[in-house]
Amino acid sequence: MRLIVVDNYEAMSRKAANMVAAQILLKPESVLGLATGSTPLMTYQFLIKLYKDETINLDGVTTFNLDEYVGISKGNENSYHYYMEENFFKYVNIKSENQHIPDGNATNLEAECFSYEKKIKSKGGIDFQVLGIGNNGHIGFNEPDLKFEAVTHPINLDDETIKANSRFFESEAEVPKKAITMGVRTIMNSRKVILLANGQNKTETIYKAIYGKIDPHLPASILQLHPDVTFILDREAASLIKDTSDMQYVDLYL
Ligand code: F6R
Repeated sequence: MRLIVVDNYEAMSRKAANMVAAQILLKPESVLGLATGSTPLMTYQFLIKLYKDETINLDGVTTFNLDEYVGISKGNENSYHYYMEENFFKYVNIKSENQHIPDGNATNLEAECFSYEKKIKSKGGIDFQVLGIGNNGHIGFNEPDLKFEAVTHPINLDDETIKANSRFFESEAEVPKKAITMGVRTIMNSRKVILLANGQNKTETIYKAIYGKIDPHLPASILQLHPDVTFILDREAASLIKDTSDMQYVDLYL
């Protein structure tokens, strides 16, 4: 595991965008796995900038989002379809047929999950996966569980996740209770993974994910076993990690 600790959210976002950009420059037909939520917002802004100044071209890129809520329309401003369109896709040149997000309104959710997983495989798998992390250690919407084995599947969201995500909705009651998510197995099959975290509400979870027991009750802990994973953290999220506090910029291999 590689650990990069930078001063603040902006530096974390720049570092993440630069790593995605390097991936695209080295393999213009890359398959990217993408996350939503607050954490990667500025990463998308930096990527848009890199596209606008012609450092990167996303014409050959294929994307697969990690997850989508079940039961809200694509046009709903809290859907991840809407998020991706408004925060990234509409500003760059990824072909629409190459943008993939699970359909949370599919009549048969199991069939949708099966076909999503199949599509990922048919594109040769994910080259580069971007992750955030939930306060309960979830990655994608893989909530704490008894097993790690799942591929893309429908999931009931935990109360903690519903509470955390209610900040985007009018009220907690409006937060969907269900989602479709890539499974931990799908994520672990990605060739390269970066996980971004900032702010003090992630500090303890990050500590457990890096140093804790590898346990499906903290889904991100399995990343300790990924052959090419980088955690990019701001100082606050990294504050329980030993030996980094008085360094300017920390780049550690654990
Ligand atoms: C979003 C996703 C989630 C978020 C996590 C953190 O696509 O898969 O795992 O990354 O819930 O969310 P934020 O960034 O809003 O703290």
